[in-house]
Amino acid sequence: MSYAVQTSDISKFPIPSGVFVEKVISVEHYTDELFKFRITRPASFRFRSGEFVMIGLPNAEKPVFRAYSIASPNWDEELEFFSIKVPNGPLTEHLQKIKPGDQVLMRKKPTGTLVNDALLPGKRLWMFSTGTGIAPFASLIRDPETYEKFEEVILTHTCRTVAELKYGQDLVEQIKHDPLVGEFAGGLRHYCSVTREDYEFQGRITDLMVSGKLFDDLDVPIISPKVDRAMICGSMDMLKDTKEALEGFGLNEGANNRPDTFVVERAFVG
Ligand code: A2P
Repeated sequence: MSYAVQTSDISKFPIPSGVFVEKVISVEHYTDELFKFRITRPASFRFRSGEFVMIGLPNAEKPVFRAYSIASPNWDEELEFFSIKVPNGPLTEHLQKIKPGDQVLMRKKPTGTLVNDALLPGKRLWMFSTGTGIAPFASLIRDPETYEKFEEVILTHTCRTVAELKYGQDLVEQIKHDPLVGEFAGGLRHYCSVTREDYEFQGRITDLMVSGKLFDDLDVPIISPKVDRAMICGSMDMLKDTKEALEGFGLNEGANNRPDTFVVERAFVG
């Protein structure tokens, strides 16, 4: 399929330098606060699964850009994003209205710390997410390299309500039946919890870790720096508290240039 930009599509505002102009392919709304969108991928654009880019709209002289984790894996021909709708948010109040065929701006350089290279080798990889923090993990759980590096992958996703879990649940279901990734993803487990409604598993992930209920529910040993590695993505408070919990189990924070036993993405907060 060709997505060549038509003359009539060109924004009346000048396109800033250093950005790709891409087309929206599909949009799916999950709740009043959450939606997914997929856009065309520029042929020259390379990224590592788990990285983020800056996204904007061609709707102003100086468009507002926000950091978005790329939720699709690096082999995908399209790019996927999972977004919150912030009331009166300068970008998301417009972004939530996009339709297939609309233009989206994307800065050219991807970056981020939630990449396999930033972790020391290990047996089990934990991905701790809340809300839209699941997005970088949606990329990593679709990347065969994740399963080459780790025997077991446990994705945890905690949201306020059950409806907010749907993006992750649909994704994991798709992966298990995907002819390409499904064969690698045998080691993938998905643990969901909810904090403000009744659900099978309830409570903040930090409380479930500290009480040990998480490990009982999954029937795995308590986290240990010998075998476990972890990645964290969520709100500022969630990052801080989950980091403390992991440090309590003896894990240490690493970075791209200093791999260690866990990594945190701070691009979306503060
Ligand atoms: P809670 O409902 O108890 O606040 P948010 O939308 O505020 O980012 O929250 C998404 C999820 O993350 C909610 O289930 C929320 O639980 C949980 N959460 C919020 N703060 C923390 C924290 N400091 N540590 C762990 N989980 C948190």
